[in-house]
Formats: sequence, structure tokens, C-alpha cells
Amino acid sequence: MTVTLHDPISFGGLRLQNRLIMAPLQQYMGTPEAYATSHHTEFYGRRAKHVGLVIVESTAVSANGRLWKNDIGIYTDRHVEPLQKITDAVHAHRTPVFIQLSHGGRKSSPEVTTTLVAPSAIAFDEHYGTPESLTLAGIEQLIEEYRLAAKRSLAAGFDGIEIHAAHGFLIHQFLSPLSNTRVDAYGGTSENRARFLKEVLFAIRGEVGREFPVIVRISATDYCEGGLTPVEWARMLKPLEPQLDAIHVSSGGLLPIQPSDVYTAYQLPHAAAIKQHFNIPVIAVGKIYTRSLANRILADQLADSIAIGRPLLEDPDFAERLLISQEPAAVN
Ligand SMILES: Cc1cc2nc3c(=O)[nH]c(=O)nc-3n(C[C@H](O)[C@H](O)[C@H](O)COP(=O)(O)O)c2cc1C
Repeated sequence: MTVTLHDPISFGGLRLQNRLIMAPLQQYMGTPEAYATSHHTEFYGRRAKHVGLVIVESTAVSANGRLWKNDIGIYTDRHVEPLQKITDAVHAHRTPVFIQLSHGGRKSSPEVTTTLVAPSAIAFDEHYGTPESLTLAGIEQLIEEYRLAAKRSLAAGFDGIEIHAAHGFLIHQFLSPLSNTRVDAYGGTSENRARFLKEVLFAIRGEVGREFPVIVRISATDYCEGGLTPVEWARMLKPLEPQLDAIHVSSGGLLPIQPSDVYTAYQLPHAAAIKQHFNIPVIAVGKIYTRSLANRILADQLADSIAIGRPLLEDPDFAERLLISQEPAAVN
């Protein structure tokens, strides 16, 4: 039977009503203390009706790891209540909602970061400056922050967690040999570079259990010789597959390098390559803006779900138009 966008899919024990996902979209509207505001509640609530899943924007697990000076965080118990307003607004449409947990590492916002930390003292660029190489105690502390963030995610009513291991932020920095030159248990071999992600994942699982959906967002390529590739990702993630419920395939961000051309479905080949290696669902994202293209991808089994981002920023009804009404014109 041919799969379409309208077919349900399960991420772990959670059944989604269709295969269209709202991708995480940073709103740059958090308070200086990283609290979510009425903007977030309204923004997510307004877009929740037709998608099978909403993934809330990157949310900092640490006061020292915010990606932007006006992003949102989940690093104290006080952050829970405003986040709960978002989950309530999305649940009002019977749509599940995940939170994306992040730490910027060497790409943490200079405006609000006290000490820039990363696996190795290698700068992203002059704007961010050179980070301090994490000590083992520092790594332990970060894993604890992820654990507490997972606990608070449950308290805020989220239905799942997306671990942000993409776009050159902290976990990605551990995974890529271009940003991790450690010679201890967290650097060197694929297994060692994946250790931080593994320990974060296990700390989260310790809080939420195995039934609660936990997915990971990855940058399948660093767009640079010597960087990560889908094959290397598969090597690192395969041992973690029993603890993961889906893989969301993005790209880039580790280095100040852009893909040479951002064309329709530009990241799809990476999702399809990742899918070759895994049995859990793979989410494709990136300029997939028409129903016919999305259905073709699903029918050809290149991915299992489709996430959309930018079209939803301007047009809160984009998902409805994509799923139900007239085929929307492609957005460029
Ligand atoms: C304004 C904006 C904010 C974004 N915020 C996030 C984010 O918080 N976390 C993340 O992983 N990706 C983020 N992204 C990337 C999107 O989730 C998505 O992968 C990307 O826009 C490509 O998909 P699209 O062509 O459907 O927009 C953001 C993109 C945009 C344009």
C-alpha cells in the first residue's frame, strides 16, 4: 500500500495522526531570562491544527548554552509554567508537541554566555571567539542539565523530546572530528565522539523511561572534506537506535560554510542515505513545500515523515493548504 502524508505514523509509543511535522522554528521572542511568552503560545497554538506533530524551537538546557540572547530555556523550574502554556495551546487541537533541547557549545550567544565551552578549544569564528575545552566535571554537569531539562519537559506537558544534535551546536561539536580533537574517552574514534550524545540520551531516558518518544535531529553533512557524512552518522547512531524513536535529517552549521545551492528538497538525499541504515522513522526536511513532492518522497520510501519550516512562519494555514486544499504553489 502506498503511504501518503495523510497516513498515521508512530514515534515510539506515540501515534501521530499524519506524517506532516512542524519543524522547530526559533522565534527570537523569549524574555531576557529565557521565558516563553504569549507570542510563543499564540504562534504554536495557531499552527497546531493540521500537522501531526509540532516541534517547539530550540530550548536551552543551560543558562550558559543559549543560542540567542532572546531564545527560550528550560534550565530552571520557573521556565516550566510558560512552556506549559505552549503545550496546552497545541493540545487544544489534539496535536502532540515535542520540545527541542539544545546547548550552543562554542556557538552560544556571546551576549548572554558567561563561559564559552566546547569539546575542544577551536573557535567557530571571531564573533563567538575561542571556547574553553570542557573538563570531565564540566561534561558531567552538562549531562545533568539535560537530565533536569527532560524532567521539566515532562512537567511542562510535552509529548516527546527532540535532542538537537545538528547545526553545529554542542552535541554536533562532540560528534564531528572537525570540532572535537579530544584525546580522552570523548574524542578520537566514532564511539568516543558519540559518547556525549549517548550519555545525554541515557540521562534523558533515565527520567522519561523507554516509552516516551525521544528523537534526534542531525546535520547529515558538514559540507566539508573530513566532516561528518551519512555513513559516519550511521556508524555513530546505530548503537543508539534501540533508545531512539526517529531521526530528523538536516544539514550544515558546524562551520561557517553554506551549501552551494539550496534547491527543492536539497537535504532529501541525506535523509534517504540515513534511512538505508535504520529501522526507526526518518524525517526529511528542507524545501519540501508541495503535496505531490511530499507524497512522492513517502511513496518512494526515501523518508517516513516530512517536516516543514519557513512556509509556516508567514502562513499559519500552510499545513492545511498542503494537506487538504488546493496544492499550494511552491515557495522559493
Ligand atoms: C527562522 C528560522 C528558525 C529556525 N529555528 C530552528 C530551531 O530552533 N531549531 C532547528 O533545529 N532548526 C531551526 N530552523 C531550521 C528549520 O527547522 C528547517 O530545518 C529549515 O528551515 C529548512 O526547512 P524549510 O525549508 O521547510 O524551512 C530554523 C529555520 C528558520 C528559517
